[in-house]
Amino acid sequence: MKFFESSSLSHEPLVRINEWIEEAVKLEVPLPHAMNLSTADDFGQPSSRMVLLKSISDEGMVFYTDYESHKGKILQKNSKAALNFWWAKTDKQIRIEGVCIKTSDQESDEYFQSRPRGSQISASVSLQSKEIRNYENLVKEAKDLEKRSSGSNLKRPSRWGGYKLIPNRIEFWKNEVNRLHRRELFILESNKWRKTLLSP
Ligand SMILES: Cc1cc2nc3c(=O)[nH]c(=O)nc-3n(C[C@H](O)[C@H](O)[C@H](O)COP(=O)(O)O)c2cc1C
Repeated sequence: MKFFESSSLSHEPLVRINEWIEEAVKLEVPLPHAMNLSTADDFGQPSSRMVLLKSISDEGMVFYTDYESHKGKILQKNSKAALNFWWAKTDKQIRIEGVCIKTSDQESDEYFQSRPRGSQISASVSLQSKEIRNYENLVKEAKDLEKRSSGSNLKRPSRWGGYKLIPNRIEFWKNEVNRLHRRELFILESNKWRKTLLSP
């Protein structure tokens, strides 16, 4: 199964991220592309949630969401964000920091159209992170839309789309014996990735 797309990878830390996720894929880790996304609001209050990596390139890492969700509203004001991966089977962690920008309408449209119809319907009826009166109503709305739209193409809701996190700091953490773990840090300086080692 293809969990995410990778293209034009040549920068060492981005190549390595791809390799570490692929290693988890080979070991049949469930959702090897699931990552924690952290944001911080105007008051400096952090919040985090899991999202799925959908593509990776030298430019950054793309995930899809609702631009008007809690995270979407935060990212609109403070585009700085962090990602975190950890897989129990490999006991490796990747920490990524950077800035999120919206993907183009065309890229979001293409991805929306590639999704299963059920996911398209859910994204169309769910105003992510908004309070709802009851769950049953939401399910009914989804069923109604399914009936109403049967046979026709569903348009991507404008509030739904992708973000690309453009990284400027990437750390690879690998479990080693006696907790003397290996930490390699890449920092983007004048468009070049500088590599250093950190004490565990
Ligand atoms: C494994 C996993 C993967 C998820 N992937 C996504 C995703 O790709 N996009 C998304 O918007 N929410 C995803 N969610 C739901 C989010 O964690 C979160 O509940 C939702 O985006 C609302 O977050 P917010 O209120 O902070 O905006 C995922 C949840 C889990 C547990």
